[in-house]
Amino acid sequence: MTTFARISGTGGYLPAKELTNSDLERMVDTSDEWIRERTGIKSRRVADDNETTCDLAEGAARRALEAAGRTTDDVDLIIVATTTPDRIFPSTACLLQQRLDIHGCPAFDIQAVCTGFVYALDVADKFIRTGAARCALVVGAETMSRIIDWNDRATCVLFGDGAGAVVLEASDEPGILSSHLHADGSYEKLLYVPGGVSTSGGCPTGDDAYVKMRGNETFRVAVNTLGRIVDETLAANGLDKSDIDWLVPHQANIRIIQATARKLSMPMERVVVTVDTHGNTSAASVPLALDVAVRDGRIKRGETVLLEAFGGGFTWGSVLLKY
Ligand code: ACO
Repeated sequence: MTTFARISGTGGYLPAKELTNSDLERMVDTSDEWIRERTGIKSRRVADDNETTCDLAEGAARRALEAAGRTTDDVDLIIVATTTPDRIFPSTACLLQQRLDIHGCPAFDIQAVCTGFVYALDVADKFIRTGAARCALVVGAETMSRIIDWNDRATCVLFGDGAGAVVLEASDEPGILSSHLHADGSYEKLLYVPGGVSTSGGCPTGDDAYVKMRGNETFRVAVNTLGRIVDETLAANGLDKSDIDWLVPHQANIRIIQATARKLSMPMERVVVTVDTHGNTSAASVPLALDVAVRDGRIKRGETVLLEAFGGGFTWGSVLLKY
């Protein structure tokens, strides 16, 4: 019998500190009106100085395990998608494993920026389908605030911190129906952080440590690419637009989300939107949005859900699943 991978529980965790658009008005030359109109964002959460990506990941992971009715003893695979790991090494997944007092199972990070969770979910699905794991903890966690230049109005208004997690388990019932991952490194210069461990100068300091984005061009590529991935996902499953019950998109910008919803002829009531209060939490955005809609009762068991994301690299991808 085919083994499927099915989400048995979701969890989300946000830092307590809220940063509103009015707060940002006092920091850079911007306005609440500009931010809301161009991005849909009203506020976002930011981690305290002593709060790390692993802290947020742990909060989300514990809630997902509780929702799944599982304990840490059941977990046999840990994947953390993050662009903002606590350390160069060990991986945030290994740090999380230690926090959860889990020993011996594989634990590793995935780096695909905002598409990281979609990549991680696909990898976990493949572990489960091949019998290499039965109960995976898949987390997207970020402290994007640490790689943002808080004097750059073009980027600092966009991002937020947080973590989302799912427990993915072997099941006779679907489950994840298909995943579609892509990347094209030739877009490097549209969205990147200049510094890195192995670039000249070593660990980045100052301006080299911060996100650089050509927002307008990124926006155009994101809209076109996400439109294509919707078509690819529907075609691979022989489905029609009307078969999708819920769209859970990456939360970068409400205008990008609306464009993808239009492509699916989907009313915004069937689209999960958290960008207004979370901002862009990179790899955490899709699992956080999924958790919100599962917990408030919108997404129900057996419904068909399309997850999609686009981010630095560029990377992009989708997962179609039966919740
Ligand atoms: N407040 C006020 N004005 C601003 C701000 C701000 N915070 N930021 C930029 N502006 C100004 C610009 O300077 C420009 O002024 P000018 O016309 O005098 O030159 C004007 O607003 C318009 O700027 P644009 O960049 O053209 O604005 P746009 O409508 O494209 O919106 C935005 C910018 C929100 C960044 C949009 O381009 C976007 O969302 N891009 C895609 C983001 C994305 O999807 N990223 C991918 C995922 S992120 C990841 O992977 C880490």
